[in-house]
Amino acid sequence: MRSHLLNDATAESYRRSVTEGVERVADKLAATRRPFTGVTPAELAPVIDAVDLDRPLGDSSAALDELESVYLRDAVYFHHPRYLGHLNCPVVIPAVLGEAVLSAVNSSLDTWDQSAGGTLIERKIVDWTCGRIGLGPAADGVFTSGGTQSNLQALLLAREEAKTTDLSRLRIFSSECSHFSVQKSATLLGLGQDAVVSIPVDRNKRMQSVVLAAELEACRAEGLVPMAIVATAGTTDFGSIDPLPEIAALADEYGTWMHVDAAYGCGLLASPTRRHLLDGIERADSVTVDFHKSFFQPVSSSAVLVRDGATLRHATYHADYLNPRRTIAEQIPNQVDKSLQTTRRFDALKLWMTLRVMGADGVGQLFDEVCDLAAEGFALLAADPRYDVVVEPQISTLVYRYIPENVTSPEDIDRANLHARKALFASGEAVVAGTKVDGRQYLKFTLLNPETTAADIAAVLDLIAGYAEQYLGETLVHA
Ligand SMILES: Cc1ncc(COP(=O)(O)O)c(C=O)c1O
Repeated sequence: MRSHLLNDATAESYRRSVTEGVERVADKLAATRRPFTGVTPAELAPVIDAVDLDRPLGDSSAALDELESVYLRDAVYFHHPRYLGHLNCPVVIPAVLGEAVLSAVNSSLDTWDQSAGGTLIERKIVDWTCGRIGLGPAADGVFTSGGTQSNLQALLLAREEAKTTDLSRLRIFSSECSHFSVQKSATLLGLGQDAVVSIPVDRNKRMQSVVLAAELEACRAEGLVPMAIVATAGTTDFGSIDPLPEIAALADEYGTWMHVDAAYGCGLLASPTRRHLLDGIERADSVTVDFHKSFFQPVSSSAVLVRDGATLRHATYHADYLNPRRTIAEQIPNQVDKSLQTTRRFDALKLWMTLRVMGADGVGQLFDEVCDLAAEGFALLAADPRYDVVVEPQISTLVYRYIPENVTSPEDIDRANLHARKALFASGEAVVAGTKVDGRQYLKFTLLNPETTAADIAAVLDLIAGYAEQYLGETLVHA
């Protein structure tokens, strides 16, 4: 069994094994003709159930053969130009290379004595990101598992900075389009369901700052504490960016922590042409960035950044075995003092490799391409009488729905759109997402692949129309 341990004696076997795995994946990527096979849970579950985990195959070639049927054959492939579903990007090769290195070396980014240079590299990537945001000289941050955790940590810091022991008095303000992790964080932080005040959006799906001002005033008048305003820079559904300068001014006026959830919009930090869309982000107290959404990084790669690094102390706890207080005096750097996690992946290496190979402009150009594509897609949808499109994209999502001719029942229109999405997924020809707008069923393209073309968008719209019509034909005839 020792032959399976990765060490000096097995370096050659490691090379062979990983190379074989890379070759299988490379063959798969090259041969994949659609983003999905359309497999159903009922079809796949027995294949996975049939694997007896107590009877190992013994060698990795056999395990890779098996992996073909249990995973690779039917995976959802984000690199395919017709994957237009959720906020998943295709990944860049330097980042995948970084992933291979970090899992083999397996540093843990909690302490210096488990990572050495890894700690310094993460710190440099954090500083670079803070610099791009413009958070100032005292800024700091830490990598996290994703936007959900980044938002949770930011709101934890905001709660502690609010310096109120009566948690029931704390309020968080975020737009009705903000991510559900804001509500989840409030609950986890002991604030309860009423803590999040939902601010309506304008027709461009941006937080209405006038209403925010009124709600802050009401909060103050009721003797409650405005703990945080969460501005979203790139809402999950619409990619809309809240009016950051106006929100920053209100945060100043009410002495409130301003968090910017730029999980999606952070790609604009690298954009050679669109950075101005984030103007005002530099006034935030904390920022969430998900490199695994718009920097073409593999999951996971996210960070929470703060204007005042000292606020990260709210996540600091000491353990004799790990980070005793004396290490502060000894000036031994560690990241665990800033993190909610203990053992933690060296995800920063992926972005490091990306920046060292491609540079920030390279990443930003790719993100610009998907934003340009979204503008083209909007023009297509707006000109197509079969579709209703909700809002002109600020980043790269399009929310729309098929409007059949001669069908007026809103329920039938909802069902036709829902059916089209499901039928498309089952066909595997393309993957699109869905959401509700004003209670009605809509479809969504999240465009994050520069390889997707306007022709792909047009073709997928034809497919959706076909499935919707097929459904209406069948159901209305039988009704
Ligand atoms: C705006 C926004 N914030 C936070 C998140 C949560 O990020 P994660 O899925 O990485 O936890 C998402 C996910 O889609 C998001 O769109």
